[in-house]
Amino acid sequence: MPLHRAIYVSDAVGEAATSLLVLAEILGASERNNRRDGLTGALMRHGGRFMQAIEGRRADVDRLMDRLRADPRHQNVRLLSDQDVAGRLFPEWPMTLAQMTPAAARVLNGAGLDQLSPDRAETLLSTATQALTVPA
Ligand SMILES: Cc1cc2nc3c(=O)[nH]c(=O)nc-3n(C[C@H](O)[C@H](O)[C@H](O)COP(=O)(O)O)c2cc1C
Repeated sequence: MPLHRAIYVSDAVGEAATSLLVLAEILGASERNNRRDGLTGALMRHGGRFMQAIEGRRADVDRLMDRLRADPRHQNVRLLSDQDVAGRLFPEWPMTLAQMTPAAARVLNGAGLDQLSPDRAETLLSTATQALTVPA
């Protein structure tokens, strides 16, 4: 199955920038819908911005991007990356929460989330989800 991955940055609107409840509601809907659609990915909220990676079949990624563009909890959705890929970076999660850990902040290195190249955006989100995994 050909795989596609989109990574975007957007500006959170109002309480979506800080509210844990809003984040929980987004992750709840993501878990349900992404499982249904075979999508996986990671979502980070930092400094009033969202960054999200979404991976799956292109048609499913595009359909979600259309829903996202219409969601009033954020605005100015700008794609950093939108390409076919060889494999998933987040195979285990319908949508995991990525946190700005010290290691992730080192990848960011003072840049804005929306200034990252596709490669660095992928590295940032991968690094930012590693804190969740306890080595066996
Ligand atoms: C930053 C952000 C990320 C989101 N990520 C997802 C996602 O990964 N999957 C999803 O289905 N909805 C996501 N949503 C919610 C969608 O915009 C939309 O509200 C939802 O898909 C509608 O689903 P429902 O009809 O089941 O409520 C996100 C919303 C925001 C603001």
